[in-house]
Amino acid sequence: MGQYEWVEKLPHERLPQHVAIILDGNGRWAKEHSVSRSKGHLAGAENVETISDALIDMGIPYLTVYAFSTENWKRRQEDVSYLMMLLKRYLVKNKKDAIRRNIRIRVLGDKQGLAPDLRDLIEDVEQATASLDSFYLQFAINYGGRDEIRRAVQKIAAEGIKAEEITEEVIGAHLDTADIPDPDLLIRTSGEERISNFLLWQLAYSEFYFSPKYWPDFTPQDLEEAILDYAGRQRRFGGRK
Ligand code: IPE
Ligand code: IPE
Ligand code: MG
Repeated sequence: MGQYEWVEKLPHERLPQHVAIILDGNGRWAKEHSVSRSKGHLAGAENVETISDALIDMGIPYLTVYAFSTENWKRRQEDVSYLMMLLKRYLVKNKKDAIRRNIRIRVLGDKQGLAPDLRDLIEDVEQATASLDSFYLQFAINYGGRDEIRRAVQKIAAEGIKAEEITEEVIGAHLDTADIPDPDLLIRTSGEERISNFLLWQLAYSEFYFSPKYWPDFTPQDLEEAILDYAGRQRRFGGRK
């Protein structure tokens, strides 16, 4: 029995296979600790590593984290550039480790809107980890659910797919998440209870869990509580028993 005793006792089908997280509250965490917003983002970035390690230990194979939305460009320049720097740093720092631990890293979102150096780095890490399959880690960067659907529709039109051939599967296959199962569990931290344009298509039947904790304070134990809560729910998908 490992560290996550309760989760390990759950039957496999009660565990989510894909956890998506809207990590929120870095700024309020910083304010609470009387440090700069950047310090909050730094603590938040470190926590992404802690929480992904916990999911790996729990045997949950997919994690998607919302790191930067299409709306986050509205923030002050220093907030935006610090977040971009952290993303670059994460990719540089974790490439080798991901390869060693058989982790596939992918980025969801409009890469064309990112700086060329970040784009190159993303391409490099995605290629280097493309065949790895012990854990699947997705970062949503310059990501908006509506923008993703818009891009998918453009691709479908550009491929000349006929109107009567457009099924839900065709749409799904043109989204950034084409090979990725829908999230089973969506967690949002910091007490906010909204989607903020995250995975609008994919969250159709996901279970939602809201934690009052700011993201840098969200621990593996909090994650375990969220998963236990999920395990006790009955998913109906519109049907009846
Ligand atoms: C989450 O923290 C990080 C991102 C959105 C990238 P915030 O920066 O949104 O923190 P709050 O909401 O201001 O506390
Ligand atoms: C959502 O958080 C986006 C990310 C976590 C990347 P925000 O802090 O940007 O969302 P709102 O503005 O409170 O809805
Ligand atoms: Mg926020």
